[in-house]
Amino acid sequence: MKKIGIKGTGSCIPTREVPNSYFEKMIDTTDKWIVSRTGIESRRMIEPGQALTDLATPASEQALEMADLPPEKLDIIIVGTSSADLLTPSAACILQHRLGAKNAIAFDVNAACPGYIYGLAIAQKFMQDGSHHHALVVGGEVISNRINFKDRSTCVIFGDGAGATVLGHSNGNKDGEILTIHLNSDGNLWSLLYMPGGGSRNPPSYQMLDEGLHYLKMQGNEVFKYAIRTMVSAAHRVMKSKKITSEQIDWFIPHQANMRIMEEVANRLRIPMDKVIVTVHKYGNTSAASIPTALDEAVRSGKIQRGDLVLVNSFGAGFTWGAALIRY
Ligand code: UT7
Repeated sequence: MKKIGIKGTGSCIPTREVPNSYFEKMIDTTDKWIVSRTGIESRRMIEPGQALTDLATPASEQALEMADLPPEKLDIIIVGTSSADLLTPSAACILQHRLGAKNAIAFDVNAACPGYIYGLAIAQKFMQDGSHHHALVVGGEVISNRINFKDRSTCVIFGDGAGATVLGHSNGNKDGEILTIHLNSDGNLWSLLYMPGGGSRNPPSYQMLDEGLHYLKMQGNEVFKYAIRTMVSAAHRVMKSKKITSEQIDWFIPHQANMRIMEEVANRLRIPMDKVIVTVHKYGNTSAASIPTALDEAVRSGKIQRGDLVLVNSFGAGFTWGAALIRY
């Protein structure tokens, strides 16, 4: 089987900054509460009229440029997202059009926050037999227009963004390699984190909008417990399968959901915080975008170097979760 490595990364975070003080003026909350319970100081949100592919397109262009790959050479485009521009067609098809990637197959993966890791796993399977040579995997989300700005338990957490990764065949070692990926889902718990309206269960209607069914609903403290447990177990599983110990991990990129979750997961995995890539304080929880945007920032800032061993893991609505070990 062919080895698959990361050839390029890119990211796009909206320019509009929304600090905690914005919410202090609107709802019963404080900067102190938000920082102490989540670690979030600010987040970025799109301008009215923008949509996911307005972020995913520049992120993908950056990744293609780093990989030195023309868009026509892409065989696959996968976008991990729960907030595509339209209900149909997929954000991936719109992205394909915008990039001019005319030879790719393109589709979305709705696996919530771990959508990017799910996308990596699917692309890896397509490429391992050598039939597909280059993939673009995007994790992106525009949640700011699906949150209720009167619900203090959700509105202070989320932000928008998109991150992209170009994958190609590799010789391993310094050429980079996705060593292993583990995915999991548990649909029994779907109602702890969901968006009731807009799909076929509650199609768009005035009543649906009046009842606020188009907003994200979350039982935060229940989700919190599962997030820690499942992210730790997925990380242990990939490390065990490759006989890797915590000390061998150079960088850990957990889903940027909440600083307290990230600290507890790192603590249980015995990974010191100075090896953890953190962006949640400035971007909030960007769902499927959180890992690929953090990866891109860490690569471009020179933190993550070729040959480094990177552990990524995530958890989200579904529930879905997963982890990957990547030799960058
Ligand atoms: O990315 C996908 C997965 N999502 C996650 O991983 C999110 C996981 N959950 C969380 O990050 C946290 O549960 C939250 C940040 C959402 C909430 O923090 P918490 O420490 O779990 O708070 P809680 O829900 O247990 O609520 C404790 C109190 C409540 O007040 P009472 O009932 O004790 O009087 C809430 O109403 O905190 C209150 N509260 C707030 N107070 C001020 C909830 N949100 C706020 C707020 N400002 N923004």
